[in-house]
Amino acid sequence: MQLIIAKDSQQFGEIGANVVCQVVKNKPNAVLGFATGSTPIAIYEKLVEKYQKGEISFKNAFCCNIDEYVGLDKNHPQSYAYFMRKHLFDHVDVNFDNVEIPSGIAKNLLEECKRYKEFLAYHPRDLQIVGLGQNGHIGFNEPYTPLGSKTHVVCLSKSTIEANSRFFTSVNHVPTKAITMGITELMTAKRLLVLACGRHKAEVVKDMILGACHPHLPCSVVQLHPDATILLDSQSASLLPDYLKE
Ligand code: GLP
Repeated sequence: MQLIIAKDSQQFGEIGANVVCQVVKNKPNAVLGFATGSTPIAIYEKLVEKYQKGEISFKNAFCCNIDEYVGLDKNHPQSYAYFMRKHLFDHVDVNFDNVEIPSGIAKNLLEECKRYKEFLAYHPRDLQIVGLGQNGHIGFNEPYTPLGSKTHVVCLSKSTIEANSRFFTSVNHVPTKAITMGITELMTAKRLLVLACGRHKAEVVKDMILGACHPHLPCSVVQLHPDATILLDSQSASLLPDYLKE
């Protein structure tokens, strides 16, 4: 596990974007797994800049997302499909035929999960970006999700609904369910880029890195990944012991 602590948001974005560039440079048709939330936005901004400077092209890459809210159409401003277009896909040369995001409005959600599972099985991720919920979720794999899980429908926990309500007009508008890649599918990516920012993530970051690897804290599985980069800011790293920060 490689730990990187960025000194500010600029550097955070630059380091994260460089990881993506490196993967795509080595393999132009790489399969990239993206994440949503406020944390990766700085990285996506840098990727757009790098694309504009000709430093990266997504035209042969395959892009997929960890999760999507159930009940939100891909054009809903809070859907993760919309998020990815707004922050990245609409500003770079992504081939939309090569973009896969679970549909939150599929009539048969179990069939949709099956379809996504098959897609992931045939498209092992060369890089998976992973954000962190304050309760330790990765994607929408909430505490006590079996570590062997694959794509499934999840009932969001009260704390996740409350945490994500800042993006909605009220807590009552936050979807209560989502489709998420499972923990196994996240872990089978060749490389993981795990992100956290802010003092409110410091506890969970400490437990993720130093706590027991257990389903009560899904993010703790990243300890077992053979090629995980943990990218933090100084606030989220503030409870880590000094010897880890050297
Ligand atoms: C949501 C997403 C997660 C993401 C998390 C963190 O819950 N489903 O994939 O990691 O938000 O969001 P933020 O980066 O805003 O803290």
